[in-house]
Amino acid sequence: MPRIQIMILRFKPRVIDPPAFFSYELSPAPDWSVLDALEQIRIHQEPSLMYRRACHHASCGTCACTIDGVERLACKTKLADLGTQTITLEPLHCFQRIGDLVTARSELFRFIRPDWSYLQADDQRDVHDLLLGDHDRTITKFENCIECGCCVAACPVARKNRRFLGPAVLSAINQEMKKNPSTENDLLSIAASPDGETLCQRAVACSRVCPTGVYPARHIKALRDQRKRTGNTP
Ligand code: SF4
Ligand code: SF4
Ligand code: FES
Repeated sequence: MPRIQIMILRFKPRVIDPPAFFSYELSPAPDWSVLDALEQIRIHQEPSLMYRRACHHASCGTCACTIDGVERLACKTKLADLGTQTITLEPLHCFQRIGDLVTARSELFRFIRPDWSYLQADDQRDVHDLLLGDHDRTITKFENCIECGCCVAACPVARKNRRFLGPAVLSAINQEMKKNPSTENDLLSIAASPDGETLCQRAVACSRVCPTGVYPARHIKALRDQRKRTGNTP
């Protein structure tokens, strides 16, 4: 591949503050992912560069960031597929910045109450805490979801309204309702709360960016249809 330029929006409290773009150049191999490029920049050019990764194969969700304006997994995104010689990397929207591309992903779980039994405590919680760098005791495992946060970061409603339950949580609620119908009334009332499914503007950005095919917008539509069928008013 020809030489490329990677622009990274960097942030370090009190050091690079406010955030600023830094430019790095490299000559990648044809099969390199964005994560490969980040590893090379950290090793050869900028040892203080902060980003997260663990699995390198789209399973852990930790490497999610904004790549050329779209929420994606850095390990799954090939440089060649981006079709440009200048690539822009930014942290995910909606999540508090910790440093460079690292955000506080525990924000994804802020609406999950410990007494919600249908979202079970993660039996890998210690591993998760280590990967995410957060020590959030309420952390949970969502079904069929790698908790990358891409859908929340892409959602125009979540970007403006921090109280919105968001596509990942609403998807988890709908999946649990299907799995465990006895929870329906309880969960439907949570989903139909003023901060829930009714705020969704059906932009479908969440489904477009989800790297694991959860299709959050479909779950939100199912919740809306179910609310209408049961006469549950927001
Ligand atoms: S469909 Fe709803 S939840 Fe998904 S991105 Fe659009 S507004 Fe957000
Ligand atoms: S629903 Fe998809 S995009 Fe949203 S957090 Fe889960 S895996 Fe990521
Ligand atoms: S490193 Fe695990 S999803 Fe990218």
